[in-house]
Amino acid sequence: MKIPSISRRKFLMTSGLLVFWAAIPVHVKAAGEKVRNLFVKPKKVLPLKMKVNGQNYDLNLDTRTTVLDMLRENLDLTGSKKGCDHGQCGACTVHIDGERVLSCLTLACTAQQKEITTIEGLANGENLHPMQKAFIECDGFQCGYCTPGQIMSAVACVKEGHTGSVEEIKEFMSGNLCRCGAYNGIVESIQKVAG
Ligand code: FES
Ligand code: FES
Repeated sequence: MKIPSISRRKFLMTSGLLVFWAAIPVHVKAAGEKVRNLFVKPKKVLPLKMKVNGQNYDLNLDTRTTVLDMLRENLDLTGSKKGCDHGQCGACTVHIDGERVLSCLTLACTAQQKEITTIEGLANGENLHPMQKAFIECDGFQCGYCTPGQIMSAVACVKEGHTGSVEEIKEFMSGNLCRCGAYNGIVESIQKVAG
């Protein structure tokens, strides 16, 4: 087994920093801590109740937690993907009270008492949702990273009635990016489900 080595330079830098930190008087460190507390607000925890994929949850979350992080980190629902984390790729799309939203831009506290559906909640047990089946049949994905978000948006697109033409489908799916370029299959899947 290869034992990881640490360079002489890194060793000297690290030990130098430790010696420096130990040499700072205690009252200076305490003053630094006070200044830090002035600017860094302590976290606030909120009790939240919501339904996710038909199951009720009671959670205590930092007010800054996004729906995406709550799903992935707290509920272990990792189907919704973190692509850009900036509202630009659509990989994190979920439904809240039936409307599609970008979960990376939505604070969990705004989903209080609401109903969230993720890709994990779309199938009915072993039976895939028609849009999931259509994606498989029409080759709507390649690497699959964007697929959960694409499918959640596609389901909403059909429900919203924006499937009149290929152009309309493209327009209303434009917030969901696919780096593999599976767009033709995605449009075909939507047309298939829209009928
Ligand atoms: S991860 Fe939310 S839009 Fe990209
Ligand atoms: S299938 Fe790879 S990103 Fe869309």
